[in-house]
Amino acid sequence: MLDRPRRNRRTEAIRNMVAETQLTANNLIYPLFLLDGKGIKSEVKSLPNNYRFSPDTLLAEIEECLKLGLKSFVLFPAVDEALKNKEATYSYSPDNFYLKTIAEIKKRFPETCLVSDVAMDPYSSDGHDGYVENGQIINDKTLPILAKMAIAQAQAGIDIIGPSDMMDGRIQYLRDELDDEGFTDVGIMSYTAKYASAFYGPFRDALDSAPKAGDKKTYQMNPANKKEALREAMLDEAEGADFLLVKPALAYLDIIHLLAQNTTLPIAAYNVSGECAMLTAACQKGWLNFETAMPEMLLSIRRAGATAILTYFAKDWARRFN
Ligand code: PBG
Repeated sequence: MLDRPRRNRRTEAIRNMVAETQLTANNLIYPLFLLDGKGIKSEVKSLPNNYRFSPDTLLAEIEECLKLGLKSFVLFPAVDEALKNKEATYSYSPDNFYLKTIAEIKKRFPETCLVSDVAMDPYSSDGHDGYVENGQIINDKTLPILAKMAIAQAQAGIDIIGPSDMMDGRIQYLRDELDDEGFTDVGIMSYTAKYASAFYGPFRDALDSAPKAGDKKTYQMNPANKKEALREAMLDEAEGADFLLVKPALAYLDIIHLLAQNTTLPIAAYNVSGECAMLTAACQKGWLNFETAMPEMLLSIRRAGATAILTYFAKDWARRFN
C-alpha cells in the first residue's frame, strides 16, 4: 500500500499542520440585541445565553468581548411597539437609541467593527422588511426608507451597513445615497441570498418583530433555489456590495460554496438563531457535546467558503479557543 492517508492524521501536530481550514476570532461577528433603558440584560428565552442589552450593559458586554479578541459586532434593535409605524420613521429619528448607542460604542471603542441592520421590520407596525400597502410589499417605496435608515447609521458612525431586507436594487440605491452624502467609506454587507427560513424564530422572539400578517416569501428566497442565489450575487456585486452574505448557514452550505466559487468578494454567512438554538437545546439535554459540536459547526461554515461568520456562539468560541 503506497498511499496511507492515516499517516497525516497520526499526531495532533501533524493534523494541525495539514489542516486546510483555520478559524480565528477575526472571522467572527457577534450579533447583539439592543433595547432602550438602563441596567437591563434580559435573556432571550428561545436563545439561551443571549440577551437583550440596554445601552449601558451593552457597552460592558462589548468591553468583555474585546478582551476575548472579538472585535466585530452586528447590532439589532428591539423597538417599543408604540414607536413602530407603517413608514418605520423611528429608524432614522434623531432620538433613536440604536443610533445613539452606535455613536457611543464607536467613541468608547474605536477599534470595533460595527455592522448594522438595514430593514424595516424592527420599526414597522406591519412587521415586514418593506413598506406594506394592501397586503403587498412595495419594493420601490421601501428603497428611500432604507436609504434614510442607512444614512442615519452612517452619521452615527457605523463601519458597515447590513441590508437584510431583500428588496430589489437596494444595494445600488444605498451605495448611491451613501456616496452622495459623503459616506464613500461605509461598507455594505449585503444579505444576498437570504432564504424564507423557519430558522429565524428565536430572533423574532428577541425583537418581537414577526410579521403581523402573511409571511416573507415574496422577498426572501425559496429554500428550493440555488441558481437564483447566483443571480442575486451577480446583481449585488455589480451594484457595489463589499460582502455577499448567505443566510441561514448550516442548511445552506452549498450556497456558501457556490457563491465563494463565483465571486472575488468575501462571503459572510449567518449562522442564524434557530441553528444556534437547536445545538444549544441538544447540548442542554446532554445529547450532544457543546465543546466539540459548536466548533465543528463553525469550522464547517468556514470550510464551505465563508470568510466571516455571524454567530451567537462567537463569545463561547472566543472564550474557549482564542
Ligand atoms: C430581518 C432579520 C431577520 C434576521 C436578521 N435580520 C429575521 C427575518 O428575516 O425575519 C434573523 C437572524 C437570526 O435568526 O438569527 N431583517
